[in-house]
Amino acid sequence: MNVIVVGSGIAGLTAALHAADAGHRTTLVTKDALGGGCTPLAQGGVAGVYGPDDSPALHASDTLAAGAGWSDPAAVDILVHDGSARIAELIARGVAFDRDANGMLLLGREAAHTHARIVHAGGDATGAAISRALVAKVWSSSIEVIEHALLVDLLAHDGSVRGIRILRGGACTEIHADAVILATGGAGRLFAHTTNPPGATGDGIAAALRAGAMVADLEFVQFHPTVLDAGEPFLISEAVRGEGAALIDDEGRRFVFEVHADGELAPRDVVARAVARQAASQGSPVRLDATMIGASRLAERFPTIDRVTRERGFDWSREPIPVTPAAHYLMGGVVTDLDGRTSVPGLFAAGEVARTGVHGANRLASNSLLEAAVFGARAADAVTSSLFRSRIMPVSAVLSGGIRDLNVVGFSRSALQHLMWDHVGLLRTRTGIAEALETIRAWRAAAPAPTTRTEHEDADLLLVAEAMASAALARTESVGAHHLELEPALIGA
Ligand code: SIN
Repeated sequence: MNVIVVGSGIAGLTAALHAADAGHRTTLVTKDALGGGCTPLAQGGVAGVYGPDDSPALHASDTLAAGAGWSDPAAVDILVHDGSARIAELIARGVAFDRDANGMLLLGREAAHTHARIVHAGGDATGAAISRALVAKVWSSSIEVIEHALLVDLLAHDGSVRGIRILRGGACTEIHADAVILATGGAGRLFAHTTNPPGATGDGIAAALRAGAMVADLEFVQFHPTVLDAGEPFLISEAVRGEGAALIDDEGRRFVFEVHADGELAPRDVVARAVARQAASQGSPVRLDATMIGASRLAERFPTIDRVTRERGFDWSREPIPVTPAAHYLMGGVVTDLDGRTSVPGLFAAGEVARTGVHGANRLASNSLLEAAVFGARAADAVTSSLFRSRIMPVSAVLSGGIRDLNVVGFSRSALQHLMWDHVGLLRTRTGIAEALETIRAWRAAAPAPTTRTEHEDADLLLVAEAMASAALARTESVGAHHLELEPALIGA
């Protein structure tokens, strides 16, 4: 069979290697250079290695609790049970996870995990180590690699996806296949502040929407609470708080304890909202105090963060550093069954582009690399056995709606990112979401047909923004990462 995998993060690399191992003629198409995307930036590790007092059942229960009742228990069960095989596979493919003097894997703990079960590589360079190892395997395999190619659309024939259209070097070309696995990542670039790289423009979700695939849970966007608030967004891993670092206000108070008994290790959305509110009320960034961890431990355990914070003029072993929340991960996406099949025959999805049901309304830290490896492998394995047997019923995307005669500012990517940050971000109101939706619809209606890479990305961002704002408006109660503030008009009523 001919299989196309789009995307070269951990999900795409895993899917392509599995497809090639199964004997499929496999083409890996990637937007930038092979091994780009979010995976190499991932500092936090891979959850799923269990010490004597831990188990897959406990990991499942933490995952379900973080998902706020919105996860699919069957998908979570697969995550925690397939996880150890995928971690073993990563090790076999050359990923050197950190070990103690006896050669045992070092286990870290992160927010909302009841146990230390997270493995890292290079201290805080886990994603880079994974990406390097898997990219090397791809280059030495039979997989055909097409780099610097933007996914423009999925090709459909008789109701099935049968290939892709790409934009490469200014020209559009078609590649035909028996199955397409989307592993294009998320859409963090919808927001003014994000940990995601420039390529995270929602291309896969947009292409799936245009192909009529079912997409769900787009209202659930995870904001990371601790991104260095100096220069380009740079993640300060949750593992730093796992090691004991404290979030403090301008008087040195650990303010997160006022909203949650677990303080800095409360669920990520709780901490992110506390940080945003505190920063707004004091009119300056809150700070992360890691001084108690000590200079040598900080340098040894977090070499990347240590280097970057120092490059930006901070000695975090001696002074607290300013942090802010930023858009980090999209829980929703293209709906799949437990084997990566979408609602459209021939189309599969894995990784952040997919909504497998694992993360529910809020993702547990360090579950994303694991989910991408587990479901990337399952999608590739399912291609052979059941190409045209999707168990998901297609629904047409709900993207219509009247456009009022609006006097809105003209579209620019930056204007969209600020609109989304202000109204479809961490703290939402229904009025704000509705206004944002109208503006997005007006921008979409006025947008010319895209021809360049930037124009295609803008069109994709607008389409995903409309779907996301629609989903956020449809969810009338706060749940997980979707948080509605009291409307200003109702305060004091
Ligand atoms: C982090 O290192 O804080 C991020 C880990 C994750 O997003 O799972």
